[in-house]
Amino acid sequence: MEMDKLVALCKRRGFLFQSSEIYGGLNGFWDYGPLGVELKRNVKEAWWRDMVTGHDDLSVPEGGPSSFEMTGLDCTIIMHPQVWKCSGHYDLFHDFMVDCRESKRRYRFDQIRGRWAEAKGQRIFVTTAVAAAEEQADVERRALKYFNLRSKDADSIHWDGDFRPLPEIDEPSQVLAPDARALDTLTAPREFNLMFKTTVGALGGEEDAAFLRPETAQGIFVNFKNVLDSTRVKIPFGIAQSGKSFRNEITPRNFTFRSREFEQMEIEFFCHPDTSHQWYQYWRDRRLQWYTALGLSDERLQLREHDADELSHYSTGTADIEYAFPFLPTGEFGELEGIAHRGDFDLRSHMEGKLDENTNPLQVALGPDGKPKWRGSGKDLTYFDDEAWEREKSELGFKSFKEYVKQRQSEPQPGAPFQYVPHVIEPSAGADRATLAFLCEAYTEDEVPDEKGKLQTRTVMRFHPRLAPIKCAVFPLVRKDGLPEVARDLYRTLKAQMAVFYDEKGAVGRRYRRQDEIGTPYCLTVDGQTLEDQTVTLRDRDSLEQCRIPLDNCLAELQQRIG
Ligand code: GAP
Repeated sequence: MEMDKLVALCKRRGFLFQSSEIYGGLNGFWDYGPLGVELKRNVKEAWWRDMVTGHDDLSVPEGGPSSFEMTGLDCTIIMHPQVWKCSGHYDLFHDFMVDCRESKRRYRFDQIRGRWAEAKGQRIFVTTAVAAAEEQADVERRALKYFNLRSKDADSIHWDGDFRPLPEIDEPSQVLAPDARALDTLTAPREFNLMFKTTVGALGGEEDAAFLRPETAQGIFVNFKNVLDSTRVKIPFGIAQSGKSFRNEITPRNFTFRSREFEQMEIEFFCHPDTSHQWYQYWRDRRLQWYTALGLSDERLQLREHDADELSHYSTGTADIEYAFPFLPTGEFGELEGIAHRGDFDLRSHMEGKLDENTNPLQVALGPDGKPKWRGSGKDLTYFDDEAWEREKSELGFKSFKEYVKQRQSEPQPGAPFQYVPHVIEPSAGADRATLAFLCEAYTEDEVPDEKGKLQTRTVMRFHPRLAPIKCAVFPLVRKDGLPEVARDLYRTLKAQMAVFYDEKGAVGRRYRRQDEIGTPYCLTVDGQTLEDQTVTLRDRDSLEQCRIPLDNCLAELQQRIG
């Protein structure tokens, strides 16, 4: 599938528009059009329903050590600045960038790639910042220009080795920057924090500085105790949140894939440290299944464990669910979702601030001298398993928990297994990336016969029915003989339950094509026979099969097919 065709369809049919387009657009920001908003809402609703409201709290899931509860939150985008200090984002959430002294452009250091080229006795590293599919053409064009050669002399340039990332090159004086004409115009790499800064209140001084959240996760961690205290959840349990996140990406690219404003769908799953690895495996598998159940093909999906040097500052294990987006070179995959074993990093940080690896969280929580010693919020974010304690205290021979902890002070975790800092498994998905993957997967061109039997190319968006922006289109075959009246009644009945479209204009074949192009899975046509036997034609978008179903059974039939 060519990405250009999908991008054009998204604009033509109202899935996605560039933000502020009439002013020339704003790089890294996208607006969802009338169909796009429905598609993205369906993605988010499917996630919320499958992960939260529809989750069966009582049964033990396959691959999970016990049953668990799921609940949700909706937190603010701007939070106390100390949240980002304790989460590590203030100090560690940065990319390296380089500036070009000649073109005045700025690039993400690790995203510049290039190839060694030799001609006229000179060897230079020609770099590019364009999408992978266009890299070779770009470096060839620029090398010709640099060596002052014509296109017909392209063969006189000797290309040495494959594309390599700029950070691997240690001869900066030989580098031709992506938009420069002279060599050695890039500055040394500098750190650049990705959080958007803003001010809260009217004074606007540095002391009023705040940040737009770069992830939704932290709202969940800082509310951990509130959720425990206001509900009856017991560990293990998960808290889900979906909402906007902001990152001042240096080089947003590939349609909505890397945007500066985007939505995340995150779960923080709290469990006992001893079972955390099992839960990590469970969530990796379960999240992968979610994408396949909604139509992403196995061949285009992969689950990839991170190498140690790729792990985020908080993570002791991460796997990415990746998708072979069509804008990537063949064989390459882009991240859809990360499933991270975050250990107790976040809760400990918010309790205590930065701790070294050997610090015993409970000793710090209690304080080495019995007094609190806080650098984070100072709030106790440990979990007390009162049921387990009640069950076992008499067997252990203690009357109170205080007595039990005192007795075990010499052990590494005096209160464990009854009081501990939970470990966290975090399946963190991007709503926009998932929507983009569903759009890419859905785009298909096939050949179907028109009314005269001639084969015509048809563009069809094969969305899973749950995700399709419009579930069904209702047509009267002709605009006379009472057919529109019956069709409108049917439309109104269905509209009360689902997104339905009514169309009575033009040839029915053309109406079908328009629905195929926006991914409507079913069309219902009211025709002459409807008036005789109260049935309508149901047409399936993918198989093109048509069958007749009773008029008064249309709603039930569609509900059953959509699932
Ligand atoms: N709380 C963990 C976290 O935020 P992440 O891997 O940085 O982890 C999670 O982000 C997901 O958010 C990614 O897998 C991706 O789907 C989405 N995401 C991250 N940055 C994005 C961006 N600039 N544009 C669109 N989606 C993005």
